[in-house]
Amino acid sequence: MYQSQSVIGVTDAAKNPPLDQCIWPADALHTIPDWVYTSQDLYDREMDRIFRGETWSFVALEAEIPNPGDYKRGYVGSVPVVIARAEDNAISVFENRCAHRGAEFCRSNQGNAKEFVCPYHQWSYDLKGNLQGVPFKRGVNKQGGMPKDFQNAEHGARQLRVTTRNGVVFATYSDKTPPLEEYLTQDIVDEFDVTFTGKKLKILGYYRNELPCNWKMYHENLKDPYHATLLHSFLVVFGLLVAGNKSIMLADKAHGRHAYMGSAKPEDKYAAVSAETKAEMRSFHDKLRLRDERFLEFVREFDSPWSVTMMTIWPNLVVQREMNTLGVRQIIPNGPHSMIMQWTMFGYEDDTPEMTRHRLRQGNLMGPAGFLGLEDNEAMKFVQEGLRRSSTDVNILKLDSGNVGTSNGLISESCIRSLYEHYRGVMGIPVAGAAQ
Ligand code: FES
Ligand code: FE2
Repeated sequence: MYQSQSVIGVTDAAKNPPLDQCIWPADALHTIPDWVYTSQDLYDREMDRIFRGETWSFVALEAEIPNPGDYKRGYVGSVPVVIARAEDNAISVFENRCAHRGAEFCRSNQGNAKEFVCPYHQWSYDLKGNLQGVPFKRGVNKQGGMPKDFQNAEHGARQLRVTTRNGVVFATYSDKTPPLEEYLTQDIVDEFDVTFTGKKLKILGYYRNELPCNWKMYHENLKDPYHATLLHSFLVVFGLLVAGNKSIMLADKAHGRHAYMGSAKPEDKYAAVSAETKAEMRSFHDKLRLRDERFLEFVREFDSPWSVTMMTIWPNLVVQREMNTLGVRQIIPNGPHSMIMQWTMFGYEDDTPEMTRHRLRQGNLMGPAGFLGLEDNEAMKFVQEGLRRSSTDVNILKLDSGNVGTSNGLISESCIRSLYEHYRGVMGIPVAGAAQ
C-alpha cells in the first residue's frame, strides 16, 4: 500500500509553516531551522529566486555534445531542458516544453538530430528551440487551422542564456547574472581551471541516483569536512583525508556560496595516523589493507597543492578531483524531500589507455555505491528522516563558532554558515530580533 510521507511522526504543518512565519532563530549563524529542509513553500521560492534567479546552473560538458546536431536532456533546478549544438556550433539551452500543450518534446536522453518533433501533434523545433513547423497550420479545405496572425517566431521553447568555460556549459534564466568568472570569483576559478584546463575531456560514464533528502544537504555535506574525517573510514584509513593533513575549506569571499575542500595526502598510503586522531574516530580500522594496491596509486598530473578537492558551485554543481578520478555531479532538486544526483565521470582525450583504466578503477571510490559515495547517501537520508519526523525543530552549527567562510582546518562548519548567510539574503528570510 502506498504510504504517504507524512503518516508517521509529526504532522507536516509543524515543518511546513507559512512563508511569513519562516523566521530564522536569533542566533542565525549557529542554527538551521528544520523548515529549511521540509517546507514546500520555501522550496517553490528556491526554484524561483535561486534556480531561476541570478545564478549559473551547470547543464552539460561540451564533450557530451561535440558535433552539430548533438543534444542531451538536462535540468535547471527541477525544470527539464534540452542542451543542443546547432549547425553553427553554438550551444543552446531551452525548456523541454512544447509551446502548444506543454509536452516534454525531447524524449531521448542523448542523441543527434536535425530537429525535434513533439510526439503529440508534431510541432517541430530547431536545435535552438525555435518553432519551425505546425502541421495543418492553414487547416484542411479552408477549415480550421491557426489564426492568420499566428507567428512561429513568437512560440519557440523558452530559451536560457548560455556560457561555457573550458568545456563546461552553464545556463541562466536571468539577464542580470554576471559573467561566469565574476559569478564564481577568482579563488574558485583558479581551482576550477586545475581540472578544466581547456584540454578536451573524454566522458567515461554516468551514475544516477535518487537521494531521499533536501537538495541543500548535498551542498552542506561538501562544506562539512568534519564528517569526512569521521564517516568515511576509507578516506581516513588510507590517508586520503585525515584531520591533521594539510587542508583547507575555502569559501568564495564575495558571497560564501561556492566552496572547495582541499587536502594533501601523505605519500605513504598507510601513513601513521596519530593515536589522538584514532581515539576520536570509531570508524578507524588499523588492519585494513588493499587487495589491489593499484587502486590508490596517485599519478601526479595537476598543478595544485591538493591531492583531493571537492568543489561546490552554487546552486547545482559539484566538481570532484580525488587523486586521478574526475567527475562532475549535478544536483537536481526533486521536491523538499528528494533530489536526483547525476554523476558524470571523465578523463582527458589525450589519456593513455593505461590512464583511462586507472581512472576507471579509481572511479570505484565514487558513485552511489562507491567506497566514498555510499556513506553520504545514507547519512543524508538519516538526517532528512530525523528532522522530518521529530518535534524538535532546529539544528546546531557551532564547530569553529563565529567563523564565517574559509577555514584552515577541517573541524569546522564555517562554510555552511557562509552559505546560509547568503541564502537568507536571497530568500528574504528575516532573523528573529534583527532590524528589518
Ligand atoms: Fe506538442 Fe501539441 S503538445 S504539438
Ligand atoms: Fe562525505
